[in-house]
Amino acid sequence: MLATFFLLGLATFCFELIGAGILGPGSPCSTADNHLDPLSHKFMSECAEQNFCSALNGTCVPRLCRRDEFPFGFGDDLPPLCSPGTFCPDDGSGCKPLVLLGEGCELNRDEQCAPPLDWDDLASAKNFNGSVCLHSTCMYANVTLGLPCVTDNTTYIDLGPAGGQQYTYTITRDNCHSPQLYCDPTSMTCARAKPLGAICASDNECETSTCASPGYCTDPPETPTRVAPWQYAITVSCILGAMMATCMMLILLHKRHRYSHYKDIQEYYYEQISLRRSIIALHAAAADRHLVEKADHNM
Ligand SMILES: *[C@@H]1O[C@H](CO)[C@@H](O)[C@H](O)[C@H]1NC(C)=O
Ligand SMILES: *[C@@H]1O[C@H](CO)[C@@H](O)[C@H](O)[C@H]1NC(C)=O
Repeated sequence: MLATFFLLGLATFCFELIGAGILGPGSPCSTADNHLDPLSHKFMSECAEQNFCSALNGTCVPRLCRRDEFPFGFGDDLPPLCSPGTFCPDDGSGCKPLVLLGEGCELNRDEQCAPPLDWDDLASAKNFNGSVCLHSTCMYANVTLGLPCVTDNTTYIDLGPAGGQQYTYTITRDNCHSPQLYCDPTSMTCARAKPLGAICASDNECETSTCASPGYCTDPPETPTRVAPWQYAITVSCILGAMMATCMMLILLHKRHRYSHYKDIQEYYYEQISLRRSIIALHAAAADRHLVEKADHNM
């Protein structure tokens, strides 16, 4: 019982967190209530996550398309993805053809805009096939050095846990030919993007699209570490040095061992030889005595 209450509470909390509506299919709704969350800029309507508010008859209807491979809040019966040349709008009300230059698009949905003819020249990580959606209008990211440009600042706020720290991210986007150029906010013309280590105020100004918090352009955090040739050289020589030191130690130990063994054997031989000498001397003395006694006897 307690567990059920807990789970219900958790579910309610989650729905509040994502800010989605709760109305099921068939419930009356108003498309006037469709809006973006002011903090997270997530699309919201009065209908639950799996539905959208139909403009035809003002009721919640199951979504007709999805944008993500694995969308939030769905079970096994996922609506289809849209085919190339079409897109699924934020509310999931069905696939629509790409939007032409100057027409309306949704926030952070560059892929809703039709690509320019020279898209392969303009395409970069800062646009989608050379198109950008700035101030809800499709544009081409084709403005060249020194010409007037358009910027769009969007601030995302993450409230964090209750009483916790609030995070703010501001994303600046523009229609300059990227990644070589960015829109300079003072002159509002396209300027050359800043190289690694240059002073910056926003990610947008850097060639690498990453402005570290002290204010200079750095590599993005996911960049693999680059190992310099001198670091390779030091590592290899350390390994070789350690291997050689180990070999030398083993050789020295072996030599010592052999020397002490050699000493033992030498001592043993000396002992044997001196023993042999003593026996021979003993023999000789005995033989001499025998001869002397024999001579005495014969006399
Ligand atoms: C509203 O329209 C949808 C299709 O657009 C239909 O499936 C649904 O039954 C309609 N609802 C009402 C109450 O007419
Ligand atoms: C960018 O593309 C648009 C549409 O094709 C064109 O009108 C405009 O002159 C282009 N701008 C530049 C700087 O090439």
